[in-house]
Amino acid sequence: MLKERRDRLGKNFYTIAYNDQGVSMIDQRLLPEQEVYHLFTNYEDVAMAIKNMVIRGAPAIGIATAFGISLAVERCNLSDREKFDEFFHHVLNVFSKTRPTAVNLFWAIDRMKGVYEQNRHLTLDDLKAMMKREALTIYKEDLETCKKIGVNGSVLIGKNFKILTHCNAGALATSDYGTALSVIRQAHLEGKNISVFADETRPYLQGARLTSWELNKDGIPVTVICDNMAGFLMAKGEIDCVIVGADRISANGDTANKIGTYSLAVLANYHKIPFYVCAPLSTIDLNIPDGSKIPIELRDAEEITHFKGHRIVCEGVSVFNPSFDVTPSKLITAIVTEKGVIYPDFTQSIQKLFSNELS
Ligand code: MRU
Repeated sequence: MLKERRDRLGKNFYTIAYNDQGVSMIDQRLLPEQEVYHLFTNYEDVAMAIKNMVIRGAPAIGIATAFGISLAVERCNLSDREKFDEFFHHVLNVFSKTRPTAVNLFWAIDRMKGVYEQNRHLTLDDLKAMMKREALTIYKEDLETCKKIGVNGSVLIGKNFKILTHCNAGALATSDYGTALSVIRQAHLEGKNISVFADETRPYLQGARLTSWELNKDGIPVTVICDNMAGFLMAKGEIDCVIVGADRISANGDTANKIGTYSLAVLANYHKIPFYVCAPLSTIDLNIPDGSKIPIELRDAEEITHFKGHRIVCEGVSVFNPSFDVTPSKLITAIVTEKGVIYPDFTQSIQKLFSNELS
């Protein structure tokens, strides 16, 4: 399907890669004006790239974390095992401090830590090789997961649907395809005559800068709207469904996603429009019973007070900049995962998803 997508759609960029040179990624802060790739040769720079949003989006953050941890281990010259262990735990700590909401980051840390612990009896060279293999496996699994989310979710999309999406849950937020945008891509590939409204997504403009760029490259009709226009379109009957990604889903289905998602869900509920969340199992945090326990990242005031380096809010005025909000599960029609589409009661359907996963 990857080849098919490259042949039939116009993708000609990559989000993140890891090879002998190091970890490279497209700088998402510069899109769509400039397509610049950075090569990072040490883990500190990979961690900074996550924190500074060179790369963003929950699954992509998880992949970057796994790549960064592997890079740290690969390039570490310590031969004393105790010191190596200390260094490894320091690296995990550095990554854990980059961004707090997307659980994929902590999921990737746990996976890398698990492989480290299971293989500590090996020589350092073999241990390093195991870590690299695991990081690349996480990447490859994400590719398969995203494709499956697309296929599973496209059954929800009607022939002439006008779809509203928020933020960027696309190829740029994952290894490729995306989650919400994978469903949109799949529906488009199946020949459905769909079109997309992309919320601009203030203040970081992931919708205006990234989602419209990706969809436009793939030839999928996309119209950018300001965040405050969604209600107007819904009232006019112009939206058939809302599809978004997720940064963390608690055990009862409450979903943290980009700030503004909750308002859209309330609007969709009022207008009786289906509201779909698309996410891999790695975004579901069974340790968190409900959304009130999800840590919400507060970002720099400058994202709001300034636009492209130019001050737009006068000095001395206070600013509040939460990067995510939580949509209560009762506003969610269905959650699309790589294992299938689940419906309310989400506490039960999520539990079932994981018990099937384990059996
Ligand atoms: O702050 P960001 O750009 O990392 O936030 C991204 C989102 O909120 C996405 O919708 C979410 O991570 C899902 S990406 C498949």
